Amino acid sequence: MNTDVSLYDLLGGDRRELRSVTVAFYKKVLADTLLSPYFAGVDMDRQAGMLAEFLAMAFGGPHSYAGRDLRSAHQHLPGLADVHFDRVVEYLVQTLREAGLSEGDVITAGAVAETVRDQVLNR
Ligand code: HEM
Repeated sequence: MNTDVSLYDLLGGDRRELRSVTVAFYKKVLADTLLSPYFAGVDMDRQAGMLAEFLAMAFGGPHSYAGRDLRSAHQHLPGLADVHFDRVVEYLVQTLREAGLSEGDVITAGAVAETVRDQVLNR
Protein backbone atom coordinates (compact mmCIF):
# COMPACT_ATOMS: atom_id res chain seq x y z
CA MET A 1 0.00 0.00 0.00
CA ASN A 2 1.15 3.50 -0.75
CA THR A 3 1.72 5.30 2.55
CA ASP A 4 2.98 8.70 1.50
CA VAL A 5 0.05 10.19 -0.34
CA SER A 6 -0.98 13.65 0.83
CA LEU A 7 -4.39 15.17 0.36
CA TYR A 8 -2.61 17.87 -1.60
CA ASP A 9 -1.12 15.31 -4.04
CA LEU A 10 -4.39 13.48 -4.36
CA LEU A 11 -6.32 16.61 -5.28
CA GLY A 12 -3.69 18.30 -7.42
CA GLY A 13 -3.02 17.82 -11.15
CA ASP A 14 -3.48 14.17 -12.08
CA ARG A 15 -7.09 13.19 -11.51
CA ARG A 16 -6.63 9.44 -11.99
CA GLU A 17 -5.64 8.66 -8.42
CA LEU A 18 -8.48 10.70 -6.94
CA ARG A 19 -10.89 8.98 -9.26
CA SER A 20 -9.64 5.53 -8.23
CA VAL A 21 -10.29 6.60 -4.61
CA THR A 22 -13.87 7.60 -5.38
CA VAL A 23 -14.42 4.33 -7.27
CA ALA A 24 -13.14 2.39 -4.21
CA PHE A 25 -15.44 4.50 -2.00
CA TYR A 26 -18.56 3.71 -4.07
CA LYS A 27 -17.66 0.00 -4.00
CA LYS A 28 -18.10 0.16 -0.22
CA VAL A 29 -21.28 2.20 -0.52
CA LEU A 30 -22.84 -0.26 -2.98
CA ALA A 31 -21.93 -3.22 -0.75
CA ASP A 32 -23.90 -1.66 2.11
CA THR A 33 -27.59 -2.58 2.09
CA LEU A 34 -28.50 0.58 4.02
CA LEU A 35 -27.05 2.79 1.27
CA SER A 36 -27.19 0.82 -1.98
CA PRO A 37 -30.95 1.26 -2.63
CA TYR A 38 -30.39 5.01 -3.01
CA PHE A 39 -28.06 4.38 -5.95
CA ALA A 40 -30.38 2.12 -7.95
CA GLY A 41 -30.41 3.50 -11.47
CA VAL A 42 -27.59 6.00 -10.82
CA ASP A 43 -24.74 6.01 -13.36
CA MET A 44 -21.91 5.12 -10.95
CA ASP A 45 -19.18 5.97 -13.41
CA ARG A 46 -20.46 9.51 -13.72
CA GLN A 47 -21.06 9.57 -9.95
CA ALA A 48 -17.41 8.66 -9.22
CA GLY A 49 -16.28 11.50 -11.44
CA MET A 50 -18.68 13.97 -9.84
CA LEU A 51 -17.51 13.11 -6.35
CA ALA A 52 -13.87 13.44 -7.42
CA GLU A 53 -14.50 16.94 -8.76
CA PHE A 54 -16.61 17.85 -5.77
CA LEU A 55 -13.88 16.79 -3.33
CA ALA A 56 -11.28 18.74 -5.30
CA MET A 57 -13.52 21.81 -5.02
CA ALA A 58 -14.26 21.24 -1.31
CA PHE A 59 -10.55 21.06 -0.52
CA GLY A 60 -9.67 24.09 -2.59
CA GLY A 61 -7.81 22.22 -5.32
CA PRO A 62 -8.13 22.76 -9.07
CA HIS A 63 -11.47 21.37 -10.16
CA SER A 64 -14.15 21.37 -12.80
CA TYR A 65 -17.19 20.58 -10.66
CA ALA A 66 -20.28 21.40 -12.66
CA GLY A 67 -22.82 19.41 -10.65
CA ARG A 68 -25.80 20.53 -8.64
CA ASP A 69 -25.36 22.05 -5.22
CA LEU A 70 -25.58 19.35 -2.56
CA ARG A 71 -29.03 20.36 -1.31
CA SER A 72 -30.59 20.08 -4.78
CA ALA A 73 -28.68 16.85 -5.50
CA HIS A 74 -30.05 15.04 -2.44
CA GLN A 75 -33.40 16.58 -1.53
CA HIS A 76 -35.42 14.05 -3.58
CA LEU A 77 -33.92 11.04 -1.75
CA PRO A 78 -36.57 9.62 0.58
CA GLY A 79 -35.80 9.28 4.29
CA LEU A 80 -32.21 10.45 4.03
CA ALA A 81 -30.98 10.89 7.62
CA ASP A 82 -27.95 11.15 9.88
CA VAL A 83 -27.52 7.38 9.92
CA HIS A 84 -26.89 7.43 6.15
CA PHE A 85 -24.63 10.44 6.30
CA ASP A 86 -22.59 8.90 9.17
CA ARG A 87 -22.11 5.73 7.15
CA VAL A 88 -21.00 7.66 4.05
CA VAL A 89 -18.43 9.66 6.02
CA GLU A 90 -17.20 6.45 7.64
CA TYR A 91 -16.58 4.90 4.20
CA LEU A 92 -14.96 8.05 2.88
CA VAL A 93 -12.55 8.16 5.83
CA GLN A 94 -11.85 4.41 5.52
CA THR A 95 -11.15 4.70 1.78
CA LEU A 96 -8.76 7.62 2.25
CA ARG A 97 -6.93 5.72 4.97
CA GLU A 98 -6.62 2.70 2.67
CA ALA A 99 -5.33 4.99 -0.09
CA GLY A 100 -2.41 5.82 2.21
CA LEU A 101 -3.29 9.31 3.42
CA SER A 102 -1.78 10.42 6.71
CA GLU A 103 -4.04 10.33 9.75
CA GLY A 104 -4.01 14.14 9.88
CA ASP A 105 -5.24 14.39 6.31
CA VAL A 106 -7.89 11.74 6.94
CA ILE A 107 -9.18 13.73 9.91
CA THR A 108 -9.20 16.93 7.85
CA ALA A 109 -11.22 15.17 5.13
CA GLY A 110 -13.73 13.92 7.69
CA ALA A 111 -14.08 17.43 9.10
CA VAL A 112 -14.67 18.93 5.64
CA ALA A 113 -17.33 16.28 4.96
CA GLU A 114 -19.05 17.31 8.22
CA THR A 115 -19.46 20.86 6.92
CA VAL A 116 -21.95 19.69 4.27
CA ARG A 117 -24.12 17.49 6.53
CA ASP A 118 -27.02 19.97 6.78
CA GLN A 119 -27.02 20.63 3.02
CA VAL A 120 -27.11 16.92 2.15
CA LEU A 121 -29.85 16.28 4.73
CA ASN A 122 -31.81 19.34 3.56
CA ARG A 123 -32.19 21.13 6.90
C1 HEM B 1 -20.20 14.02 2.41
C2 HEM B 1 -21.41 13.69 1.96
C3 HEM B 1 -21.80 13.69 0.50
C4 HEM B 1 -21.23 14.31 -0.57
C5 HEM B 1 -19.99 15.21 -0.61
C6 HEM B 1 -22.01 13.94 -1.74
C7 HEM B 1 -21.75 14.37 -3.02
C8 HEM B 1 -22.57 14.14 -4.11
C9 HEM B 1 -22.38 14.72 -5.43
C10 HEM B 1 -21.24 15.66 -5.83
C11 HEM B 1 -23.40 14.28 -6.21
C12 HEM B 1 -23.61 14.59 -7.71
C13 HEM B 1 -24.56 15.76 -7.89
C14 HEM B 1 -25.01 15.91 -9.32
O1 HEM B 1 -25.16 14.89 -10.04
O2 HEM B 1 -25.25 17.04 -9.77
C15 HEM B 1 -24.22 13.40 -5.40
C16 HEM B 1 -25.35 12.72 -5.83
C17 HEM B 1 -25.96 11.70 -5.14
N1 HEM B 1 -25.75 11.37 -3.82
FE1 HEM B 1 -24.41 12.24 -2.60
N2 HEM B 1 -23.02 13.10 -1.36
C18 HEM B 1 -22.94 12.92 0.00
C19 HEM B 1 -23.78 12.15 0.78
C20 HEM B 1 -24.73 11.27 0.31
C21 HEM B 1 -25.52 10.34 1.11
C22 HEM B 1 -25.44 10.21 2.65
C23 HEM B 1 -26.32 9.65 0.25
C24 HEM B 1 -27.32 8.56 0.57
C25 HEM B 1 -26.99 7.34 0.77
C26 HEM B 1 -26.05 10.13 -1.09
C27 HEM B 1 -26.65 9.69 -2.25
C28 HEM B 1 -26.55 10.31 -3.48
C29 HEM B 1 -27.32 9.90 -4.67
C30 HEM B 1 -28.32 8.74 -4.75
C31 HEM B 1 -26.95 10.77 -5.70
C32 HEM B 1 -27.47 10.76 -7.15
C33 HEM B 1 -28.72 11.55 -7.22
C34 HEM B 1 -29.29 11.53 -8.62
O3 HEM B 1 -28.52 11.58 -9.60
O4 HEM B 1 -30.50 11.49 -8.71
N3 HEM B 1 -25.08 11.12 -1.01
N4 HEM B 1 -23.70 13.35 -4.13
